[in-house]
Amino acid sequence: MSDYELKPLFSRERIAAEVARVGREISSDYEGREVVVVGVLKGSFLFVADLIRAINAPVVVDFVRLASYGAEMSSAGIVEMRKDLEISIRDRDVIIVEDIVDSGYTLDYLCNKLLLQDPRSLKVCTLIDKRARREKDIEADYVGLTIEEGFIVGYGLDYDERYRDLPEICLVEKA
Ligand code: PRP
Repeated sequence: MSDYELKPLFSRERIAAEVARVGREISSDYEGREVVVVGVLKGSFLFVADLIRAINAPVVVDFVRLASYGAEMSSAGIVEMRKDLEISIRDRDVIIVEDIVDSGYTLDYLCNKLLLQDPRSLKVCTLIDKRARREKDIEADYVGLTIEEGFIVGYGLDYDERYRDLPEICLVEKA
């Protein structure tokens, strides 16, 4: 995209309200049990930071770094792990925290990989559930916000590594 503009979609207040709601849902479901939050870098770093402070239960945090190859190859489902977990999740209650689920390939790959390590339970939380291009039959257990389609940036999400620092989420549209 050579000429584009950013159109506000979700304000920082809306994001904060949904993060608080998801935090309450998780707190109620786990009721004081320790939760291992696995953030998927890079996009989830702000969501993880806000979400863990909205969860009223003991939380342990770790991160993985996943990358999918370019657009065409990502639809072929090729995902690569560039940074693995550093703690053991065996017999622990784990929640994967994503910024966005789109095709579902990244999440499908990560769930399968983590299940091999025998967690007691494994759930998925995503800030954005983007529905239109879903190719894998996979659903998040906790969802902040839903969109059908559109390229979005801000609050951790990037366009060519830019705009992760925006406090709100914007649509990238042709000018
Ligand atoms: C994004 C996002 C998810 C993945 C979702 O990561 O953080 O991990 O894409 O897409 P999918 O459902 O189609 O697999 P990205 O590869 O853009 O890396 P980033 O988090 O470092 O920005």
